[in-house]
Amino acid sequence: MRKEFKVNFDVCTYCNHGCTFCSNADVKTLKDKVKYKDYVSVMDNLLKYVKISELALSAKGEVLMNNDLEKIIYQSKTIYKVPYVYFSTNGYYLDTKRAHSLLESGIDSIKFSINATNKEEYQKIHLKDDFDRVIKHLKYLIALKQSQYKSVKIFISIVTNDAKEDVIKAFRELLGDLDAINDIFVYKLQYRPHQGGIEIDTSKVIIDNSNCLISPLKEVYINSDCSLGFCCLDYFDEINFGSLLENDFMKLYEGNEYKKMRQQFVDNNFEKGSLCYNCLAYEGLNKKVSS
Ligand SMILES: C[S@@+](CC[C@H](N)C(=O)[O-])C[C@H]1O[C@@H](n2cnc3c(N)ncnc32)[C@H](O)[C@@H]1O
Ligand code: SF4
Ligand code: SF4
Repeated sequence: MRKEFKVNFDVCTYCNHGCTFCSNADVKTLKDKVKYKDYVSVMDNLLKYVKISELALSAKGEVLMNNDLEKIIYQSKTIYKVPYVYFSTNGYYLDTKRAHSLLESGIDSIKFSINATNKEEYQKIHLKDDFDRVIKHLKYLIALKQSQYKSVKIFISIVTNDAKEDVIKAFRELLGDLDAINDIFVYKLQYRPHQGGIEIDTSKVIIDNSNCLISPLKEVYINSDCSLGFCCLDYFDEINFGSLLENDFMKLYEGNEYKKMRQQFVDNNFEKGSLCYNCLAYEGLNKKVSS
């Protein structure tokens, strides 16, 4: 029987924005995009062993910079029958034409990352003066949902310290109402590799695997060069098990390197200075400090 996983296939790691808290702009972040034919090869490899419960198509970059995206979504919905397919975008490329083609391809959910509620702040954070354009694109998508694609989910996310009620009020003013928005996620700043350089007093931090943002035992991450990675927060490719275009998925998943990573979570024992150690320490700093 096939094992059920959530799959994150990161089909594009290029990005046109430079959000100040994100590691994408760092030169150490792999930049690539998956071609439709490679997507099919990797998925055919994976699906011999894996039943996909949900499929995320974005992680470390701007997914709409991959022009094969609609074909990838269509394939995932109609041929692979994945129940829930979604992505997150900064919305810059989600113009009228793409709104139609994306909804027509069968996407289940789209999340707009709008990391400020006004033009000035947006420019300071995204380092691009695209606030008005992005809001216009969001409004068009909402109108399309309301007229023809009622079941599609639309979310907004924002990385901020502002209170959720203030964020909701601001987006309500911008959009008129929030009737078509399924939810607004307010994210606190999380660990990203370029922030690993900050001082973390790890002597006081309890490394607790329950602070992990994904479920490494239930999730599979595939990088934009079609290699099997471990986590969508691994911007600098610290953990890579090999290409899924050249290797059998199960051989890599059951290989010693992957087993070693999973074992760290089972034992709750992480190599000091490693990706997961730094990530859990960063979370732990605010959450769980020993006396
Ligand atoms: C890295 S982006 C990639 C997809 C797309 N470019 C976007 O912005 O939605 C995925 C999500 O991670 C969030 N993100 C990036 N860096 C973050 C950080 N340091 N802390 C919290 N969330 C972060 C973004 O705001 C976005 O919602
Ligand atoms: S958060 Fe998204 S839009 Fe902003 S720099 Fe990172 S990948 Fe690009
Ligand atoms: S880097 Fe490690 S600890 Fe952090 S979210 Fe990813 S798997 Fe979990």
